[in-house]
Amino acid sequence: MHSRTTPRTAEVSGPPRTTADVLVVGGGIIGLVTAWRAAQRGLATAVVDPAPGGGAAQVAAGMLAAVTELHYGEQTLLGLNVASAERYPAFAAELTEATGQDLGYRACGTLAVALDADDRAHLRELHALQRQSGLTSEWLTGRECRRLEPMLAPGVRGGLRVDGDHQVDPRRLAAALLVACERAGVVFHRDWAERLSVVGSRATGVVLADGTELSGGVTVLAAGSLSGRLAGVPEGVLPPVRPVKGQVLRLTVPRSHAPFLSRTVRAVVRGSHVYLVPRENGELVVGATSEELGWDTTVTAGGVYELLRDAHELVPGITELPLTETRAGLRPGSPDNAPLLGPTALDGLHLATGHYRNGVLLTPITGDVMAHALETGELPAEARPFTPRRFGTLSPATATAPATPRLSEQLA
Ligand code: GLY
Repeated sequence: MHSRTTPRTAEVSGPPRTTADVLVVGGGIIGLVTAWRAAQRGLATAVVDPAPGGGAAQVAAGMLAAVTELHYGEQTLLGLNVASAERYPAFAAELTEATGQDLGYRACGTLAVALDADDRAHLRELHALQRQSGLTSEWLTGRECRRLEPMLAPGVRGGLRVDGDHQVDPRRLAAALLVACERAGVVFHRDWAERLSVVGSRATGVVLADGTELSGGVTVLAAGSLSGRLAGVPEGVLPPVRPVKGQVLRLTVPRSHAPFLSRTVRAVVRGSHVYLVPRENGELVVGATSEELGWDTTVTAGGVYELLRDAHELVPGITELPLTETRAGLRPGSPDNAPLLGPTALDGLHLATGHYRNGVLLTPITGDVMAHALETGELPAEARPFTPRRFGTLSPATATAPATPRLSEQLA
């Protein structure tokens, strides 16, 4: 696609444009960063979402945990995660400059601790894997951990200090991206996309719930966990994403208790990840469960109990803090835990989805990768392993549109 340089403003008068160079389905952080970067490159861009700026970012804790969330077998994803983490300072500065909004980006580091001998052995293995992968982390004794974070439980057996794993406030990130998009002239259609329009063997846009037909030179499906449910997308092209529920708590550290924690503290307790992310404004985010329960977003007594129980084992003083919010969101899981980025086997349809546990971390690089793909039709080298074609089985010419429930039927 060739870029246009037509100047655009946020104050679109009259009915919204129904044609765009780039039509982004989904206005979460991934859809918004794609739209912002596309608009910056002169592409006439529109976003379809009934409530842009929402989605999983409203629940996420915002850890930028490329090093502490490293897993065996995910070295390729690690490269993308690290590259995105490296872009965060400049990305945050640019977004703040464009919008006047602070993102709560904090280069505060992370401490992953062990509570018993099994956890300690597990963390030692993680440390070895990090070193083999060329990552920087430092092994600390329990005493050294408590010297860094005095609120830690006396029983902490040791830990890994990772100064390079930072944090951002995902709600502020989403709000800033929304403003950045508006200022860059992105048009918003505040409605559900009902169906992808396909003419011959090419995607040509979407039909909205109110019947409006929007046409796009390229349609980008960036609807998070819902991306696999857009009607009209041929079977072989439909992204294999699934919802993975995460329950998250928010507590408030009163000024009298500050500083409570100075960095993100995390552990694996009885096989479950628990993390505590302290913000400068006193918010303390505790997450997260990981549940394969379809579209359920109920906050359960069991989920809250387990998070508080595990967090209390790490930091006993947490039970004194006011509990201010409980919420559940849906991560867009993919078969290999990595995102699907760029062109699909269906001409005119790109994907930006499947970011699973790393949506906030991967926001900067996703914007850059998608803008490149939209301009050139090709993924940049660093993103080629994440082509959606790695999962495709059918050619679009032979594929039929599946009888899936509509996108708009998925969330009450
Ligand atoms: N990356 C943290 C989570 O998905 O819970």
